[in-house]
Amino acid sequence: MAGTDATRPAAASRAARWPAATSPSRLLACSGDGFHGAPHSPAQPVNPGRLRSERRWHNQPEPGKPAPLVNWKGSLVVTYTIPGMKTGSADKVVALLQDRLDSLSDLALTLKHVHWNVIGPNFIAVHTMLDPQVDAVRVMVDESAERIAALGGSPSGTPGALVKRRGWDDYSIGRADTIEHLGALDVVYAGIIEANRAAIEATEEPDPVTQDMLIRHGGQLEQFHWFVRAHLEQSDGSLRTAGAATERSAARQASS
Ligand SMILES: [Fe+2]
Repeated sequence: MAGTDATRPAAASRAARWPAATSPSRLLACSGDGFHGAPHSPAQPVNPGRLRSERRWHNQPEPGKPAPLVNWKGSLVVTYTIPGMKTGSADKVVALLQDRLDSLSDLALTLKHVHWNVIGPNFIAVHTMLDPQVDAVRVMVDESAERIAALGGSPSGTPGALVKRRGWDDYSIGRADTIEHLGALDVVYAGIIEANRAAIEATEEPDPVTQDMLIRHGGQLEQFHWFVRAHLEQSDGSLRTAGAATERSAARQASS
């Protein structure tokens, strides 16, 4: 989905939503999720727009508005595809897979970021729990990209292109206690799993082979989500993060 800025207003407005300035007023801005007045470090400027998009983490592109994948000449990439499939169907599946590829690439980096930034008494347990998840997600990234190629598409895997396409903001927690990161990861995994299930449903008719791959990915992702949530579960069976819609609010609830 290497769409132009004109076709992706959400991406085009990213610079406006995420100003580079770290002025005192911006650093102290209200996040609207219970962190009112809390000072933020210069490394973590508040993004005034992140709450709008965070709920939609990994749910891009806008439903019904996938940007076409084009090559460097501006032509649609899919000119041939798997025997038995129509190129029109392949276009649709490739666009879905590019969205999954972007989400999973982002997730692999985010999980490593958490692996490096967790602190506290349970450091080693969470730190070491995350590496197998990173490894598994990287395999999913590779499988998604290679399925795009098999369908006759051109997988896009460069960081700059991913940032232009994505409709979510960077993971918002830096150095923090393990339970805060686990609360935030609950929100991250919830968004990814929801989007993956939507992709499973959307690929049933055009490409059951891709659907099978997405189901396999979903099984692993949902298990990893359980690993995270098991740390947040209370004796009555409820989650500390219940009702939290943002990473920051989930982190706060998890640690309270
Ligand atoms: Fe490591």
